[in-house]
Amino acid sequence: MNANRLSAPMQAALNAQMNKENHQAQIYLSYGCWADGEGFEGISNFLFRHSKEERDHMMKFLEYILKRGGKVTVSAIPEPSADPTSVNDCFEKVFKQEVSNTELIYKLVKMSFDEGDWATWNFMQWFVREQTEEETLAIELLDMIKVAGGKEASHSALFSLDRQMGVRADDAGLAQDVTTDHP
Ligand code: FEO
Repeated sequence: MNANRLSAPMQAALNAQMNKENHQAQIYLSYGCWADGEGFEGISNFLFRHSKEERDHMMKFLEYILKRGGKVTVSAIPEPSADPTSVNDCFEKVFKQEVSNTELIYKLVKMSFDEGDWATWNFMQWFVREQTEEETLAIELLDMIKVAGGKEASHSALFSLDRQMGVRADDAGLAQDVTTDHP
């Protein structure tokens, strides 16, 4: 008897997104290492924390697939993209990455709607809210670097920005609070 409550295309799409979240985690990890190497400890710490949130997203997909009787396929992920060239470039890359992830989440929402898979549609609403939070956070980062001078930001402005990032609370509160242990 087949107890898998996911269609084959839905299972494949959820697995792809699970692995995408893992890839995102690696990208944030890599950017965090870059920031630390550049002397930006606060930004680095922020990026490391965010990497953990992306991993939580991966686990959330993994757990959902299992709960629906599906098969999880953990696959290889590509190498993180090249290091940012500056803090400005780093924040722009973070923004683009989050927008591109939102588009993938919306595709899954549409797919679940088209299939009439309301359990998956309901599950995906958490990610719709989360992506809104993440985009807001990325926009805030872009605003902060803009105020600091953007591409022309001075060392002292970047120093101050770095200190701010080190002490700020995680804005992506939903991701921070929700893990497989606390779904
Ligand atoms: Fe899991 Fe930043 O999206």
